[in-house]
Amino acid sequence: MDQINGSVVTEFVLLGLAQSMGMQLFLFFFFSLFYMGIILGNLLIVCTVIFDPHLHSPMYILLANLSLIDLGLSSTTVPRVISDLFRDYKVISFHNCMIQMFFIHVMGGVEMVLLIAMAYDRYTAICKPLYYLTIMNPKMCTFLVLAAWVIGVIHAVSQFVFVINLPFCGPNNVGSFYCDFPRVIKLACMDTYQLEFVVIANSGFISMATFFFLIISYICILVTVRQHSSTDLSKAFFTLSAHITVVVLFFAPCMFLYVWPFPTKSLDTFFAIVDFVITPVLNPAIYTFRNKDMRLAMRKLGRQVVSSREMI
Ligand SMILES: *[C@@H]1O[C@H](CO)[C@@H](O)[C@H](O)[C@H]1NC(C)=O
Repeated sequence: MDQINGSVVTEFVLLGLAQSMGMQLFLFFFFSLFYMGIILGNLLIVCTVIFDPHLHSPMYILLANLSLIDLGLSSTTVPRVISDLFRDYKVISFHNCMIQMFFIHVMGGVEMVLLIAMAYDRYTAICKPLYYLTIMNPKMCTFLVLAAWVIGVIHAVSQFVFVINLPFCGPNNVGSFYCDFPRVIKLACMDTYQLEFVVIANSGFISMATFFFLIISYICILVTVRQHSSTDLSKAFFTLSAHITVVVLFFAPCMFLYVWPFPTKSLDTFFAIVDFVITPVLNPAIYTFRNKDMRLAMRKLGRQVVSSREMI
């Protein structure tokens, strides 16, 4: 472990989120509560979609996949943040730091592509309703999910291969509460200017491009909705506004973390928390509490669980 390409750093120091005991306690409850909400809410969506045949349409299958990814994304950091809160000296081993960065970008990449797939699904349903069933068939849905994973892995690997080979010879204070490429690269003992550009291009510009692409697609869909139907109008508006909220909440932090040239500790922390804690918990909230089909399916699932217990 000591000598990966001449590197001597075996562990990195992470930033503490709170100094005072009161703040530590508050954050402990905040993160624990939200993480429990993330686990329960997202698993509930996955189970509801899997067990209710009415929800076996691409929109809900993609949603269930998104829920799994949300759960994965917050699991890359939140459990560690919770266990680190009360430690005085927050260190992460070289290996774990690399693993954390890798999975953050796999999950983030998959989530990005899934959001595009969900927009494409809504675009087809609303703008090309006659062809919807032919275009968004189960094969297409599987293809989109597979593509999301392949792209996510490529996205992570294409940054990871550079970083894993960097020489780390001394400085090891990440200056953030989790490991991520932009911060860790700066600790390498060499000129990393080009590499920083690779990361900005790969993570930053991709998230910016994806964001604007998604916003424009949703605007197109909204325009079509306005021109045509009048009965389904509010329902479509409703679904779309949920999608748009998720997109904005996910991408705003990404763009800030990777593109904004003047990193500020407190803002970075805030935006990272939004992406790892707030977005993953909002997804289930938005889709379950405000979507009638989802609510009905959950009630049915609940009744089935209760009645199967009574039979035993
Ligand atoms: C994710 O998508 C795949 C491919 O369409 C599907 O088979 C699978 O059931 C989905 N996962 C969940 C949890 O719904």
